[in-house]
Amino acid sequence: MAGPVRGSVRALFAALLAPLLVALLVAPASGRGGRGHGDWDADLLLPPLPPREDAARVARFVTHICDWGALATVSTQEAVRGWPFADVLSLSDGPPGAGSGVPYFYLSPMQQLVGNLQENPYATLTMSLAQTNFCRKHGFDPQSPLCAHIILAGTVTKVNETERDTAQQSLFIRHPEMKDWPASHQWFFAKLNITNIWVLDYFGGPKIVTPEAYYNVT
Ligand SMILES: *[C@@H]1O[C@H](CO)[C@@H](O)[C@H](O)[C@H]1NC(C)=O
Ligand SMILES: *[C@@H]1O[C@H](CO)[C@@H](O)[C@H](O)[C@H]1NC(C)=O
Repeated sequence: MAGPVRGSVRALFAALLAPLLVALLVAPASGRGGRGHGDWDADLLLPPLPPREDAARVARFVTHICDWGALATVSTQEAVRGWPFADVLSLSDGPPGAGSGVPYFYLSPMQQLVGNLQENPYATLTMSLAQTNFCRKHGFDPQSPLCAHIILAGTVTKVNETERDTAQQSLFIRHPEMKDWPASHQWFFAKLNITNIWVLDYFGGPKIVTPEAYYNVT
């Protein structure tokens, strides 16, 4: 009895284990793709950093590579009214390889930062290559300017009907789950109307880039 039972248990294990192993091997790859930003997760596929002396290109690169940033607004919460208030925000400046430089957002009036923006639309957006594996791979601390990061200042504005499709396409391709976010939250498309840009990509202090130079990068 023991022999055949053990044999069939082994067969059962093999039958259960084989698909599980396949699932484990396949899952990380499809999981990355499924998040929308997977194209750049792999070391090999991260495009090379533009020359550090070309700060406008570095800025466009960081904006395009990052799927999210920290947006600082001026708080309207009673306990911290008037204080800077940073929160994580998903964003996209366009489909992979076709960035426009415009950081688009998908916002809901239920977000604290949207309440803040209704009183004061001025905000700063910070994005860093520390959000990719670039800095870890090269051994750059996130605070080091070698771990390129940028600060964009401006006003957050709703996008108009003309620009709506561009905003939606840009965001949904890199954040596929957005299209399933609950309609009751009254999501709307917005962007940062950039007025000032600081690039920290090398020693010697931040470099100033004008919005004109930033948008002229091809
Ligand atoms: C919508 O916004 C875009 C980008 O800011 C602008 O170029 C365009 O003129 C606007 N369209 C309308 C109808 O206001
Ligand atoms: C963007 O900012 C500029 C400079 O402050 C301003 O003149 C322009 O009206 C703003 N555009 C929008 C759509 O808010």
